Amino acid sequence: MPMGSLSRVAAAGGRSFGTAVRPEQLTGDARLAQLVLDNCAAITPEIHFKWNAIEYAPGQRNFAPADALAAFAGSHGLALRGHALIWEQSTPDWALRRLAKGEGWELVEAHFAAMLGRYGAAAQEWDVVNEPIDTEQGVHGLRTTSFYRAGGPHYIERALHLARRLAPQARLAINDYSVDYDNPVDAARRTALLRLVERLKKADVPLDAVGLQAHLDLAKGPFRPQILRTFLADLAGLGVTITITELDVKEADRRAPLALRDARVAAEAQSYVATALEQPAVRGVTTWGLSDRDSWLQDAPGQAGARPERLNRGLPFDAALAPKPMYWAMRDAFAAG
Ligand code: G3I
Repeated sequence: MPMGSLSRVAAAGGRSFGTAVRPEQLTGDARLAQLVLDNCAAITPEIHFKWNAIEYAPGQRNFAPADALAAFAGSHGLALRGHALIWEQSTPDWALRRLAKGEGWELVEAHFAAMLGRYGAAAQEWDVVNEPIDTEQGVHGLRTTSFYRAGGPHYIERALHLARRLAPQARLAINDYSVDYDNPVDAARRTALLRLVERLKKADVPLDAVGLQAHLDLAKGPFRPQILRTFLADLAGLGVTITITELDVKEADRRAPLALRDARVAAEAQSYVATALEQPAVRGVTTWGLSDRDSWLQDAPGQAGARPERLNRGLPFDAALAPKPMYWAMRDAFAAG
């Protein structure tokens, strides 16, 4: 069967398909770069748009890797997702130290100005706030991050208004994880995310989209389509579009026969993507990498010496860049959607 292009099949149904990438993957491996070009209409910088990648030391911004990704997207006509302006885990230590004391919001303003000034037009959709939900230790469902302390309980509103001012054309999103499964934690997180979106929309805060990371996990299953269906309809009803931003599948048993493992991963991805595509507000799907070789789910991603049969197999292509059942499953889901 000819491989065909995931993005072309997705585009026929009015959807986009993309992947997360790191610049060294594109420059260091021509086959991977070709796989991206063959299959993707969009890319998300996996690491290099993050604050600690841009400004590891205060005031010394290194845009080179981010520029390379923006240029790759621009020269090949790919959409670009700006990921992520605010994320506690990718904030440089020097900034975290100030923000955690409840001061230094001007650092956030300077970072936004730098990023949106440079890439605000190049990237069509931005994760302005990444992972704001915490229903276990948070306050009213919000993670009490350093940004929460520095910007106050309405830091998300402030961040979105700031982003809109600096990039009036960009689509602005919040992006979060663990809203996929039928368990009390995910259920509480769905409710908290819906409440947050409702609050923002009611207050006319410039929020255009919600990103659902979709780091699927076979240990958390079974995946129940009806739960996602209802959640997506509730989100869409609040007037936002939805992007599946970081899809991959974490395996529960890497010792099972390979064919069975691949079938389990493919079934999970197909079920999830097919359900998501039923919802017209879902604009596209991005996987968090194309090849298992590069997945963050590996114990040592990209490192030689890892036993290939023990690698997590939760992306569309295997470590040798051959398509796996997950690839065909996603293609089928896009074709049907
Ligand atoms: O490149 C260095 C390498 O030289 C060094 O030996 C190694 C030692 O730790 O670190 C390598 O860099 C790591 C990089 O991944 C490449 O593997 C960074 O330390 C590590 O922080 C970085 O992690 C990334 C993480 O976000 C933090 O930025 C992951 O690749 C990336 O997949 C992950 O992506 C996040 C999304 O942004 C948000 N949602 C969850 C998702 C998974 O955590």
